[in-house]
Amino acid sequence: MKTLNLDLGERSYPIHIGQGLLSGDAGLLTRQIRGRSGVIVSNETIAPFYLEPLQRLTAGLKTSTLILPDGESWKTLETADRIFTHLLEQHADRRTTLIALGGGVIGDITGFAAACFQRGIDFIQVPTTLLAMVDSSVGGKTGVNHALGKNMIGAFHQPRCVLIDTDTLQTLADRELSAGLAEVIKYGLIRDRGFLDWLDAHMDALLARDPQALTHAILRSCEHKAEVVAADEFETGQRAMLNLGHTFGHAIEAAMGYGNWLHGEAVATGTVMAAELSGLMGWLAPDEVGFVRHLLARAHLPVTPPTEMTAADFSRYMAVDKKVLDGTLRLILLTGLGQGTVTSEFDPVALQRVLTRTL
Ligand code: NAD
Ligand code: GLY
Repeated sequence: MKTLNLDLGERSYPIHIGQGLLSGDAGLLTRQIRGRSGVIVSNETIAPFYLEPLQRLTAGLKTSTLILPDGESWKTLETADRIFTHLLEQHADRRTTLIALGGGVIGDITGFAAACFQRGIDFIQVPTTLLAMVDSSVGGKTGVNHALGKNMIGAFHQPRCVLIDTDTLQTLADRELSAGLAEVIKYGLIRDRGFLDWLDAHMDALLARDPQALTHAILRSCEHKAEVVAADEFETGQRAMLNLGHTFGHAIEAAMGYGNWLHGEAVATGTVMAAELSGLMGWLAPDEVGFVRHLLARAHLPVTPPTEMTAADFSRYMAVDKKVLDGTLRLILLTGLGQGTVTSEFDPVALQRVLTRTL
């Protein structure tokens, strides 16, 4: 097992990464629980695999379980309200800990409920998708979707710890594994050229779920995430770079109906669009734009936007992006492979060329 520390002063927390952690030392989890009660939140797909082992780990606590329906379309205020109702029915108090067992949807919504219930209770992340392991479980962004925009309602609320049992990836669908790889590739593109080369060399091993390759990819990604979040917890600066491809991607997710394009798939296509715009700006060479497209395609990810989406569709959704400041859209672009930048200094004509596919 490897343990990283996300350094946030008194709100610092460990990220444990390893095989078999769900059937290992219960103390890793229970040491982080300040009261005597917990509520495990999971969904109907994940619970049959991993609820029992987690219940064994938390056997020393008074725990109840809430099983939610599966899917991005359930990441709503109404579902958060189901968690509040359960907490009230269980007479939860300020020392109750929520434990999120699942992917990014369960993690985001459980964290959001933890941020709101009685103005903030503890929560723990037990991520079970690659995407959640490398991104959503670390860093304290929590929230739900609104019909008019993705992740528009939320709060920053850090977990007490993140427990990553890499064995859980063995039951994940291929398409979901690929979606997680989009976020892994993101770290290489924005800040680590050497990691990009490693990913290029190990893509087949990752797709074959080689435990060593997966552990390395998760560890490296979490190191990057922890460094960025420690430096800019509330996204006043460089944390925005973690949103490479997300402005285009969120537009795709919202326009196509939440859940039809997976978040990681939309981010992959959005990343290619960001690379194309960077290419039109002269910041990336044509072969570098080609490399971005090629690496994502090798991870079995979509690299072209849905044909049914018009430039106007993109513009409508991009206008409500959280990176719009004082009415000005900021995008994450690449000034080289391994070098991201947050900027509003892009040519709007070039952006239109990307959106209208007149490259
Ligand atoms: P998800 O939570 O919907 O999980 C994907 C699917 O895999 C679901 O059907 C789930 O039930 C199933 N599943 C999960 N673990 C499994 C396992 N081990 N075996 C078998 N099936 C399993 O999707 P996701 O990709 O994990 O997360 C996407 C969400 O994360 C989006 O809502 C996105 O906005 C959010 N997100 C948040 C952050 C953040 O910083 N908070 C960052 C990135 C993404
Ligand atoms: N997933 C982007 C962030 O955590 O900032």
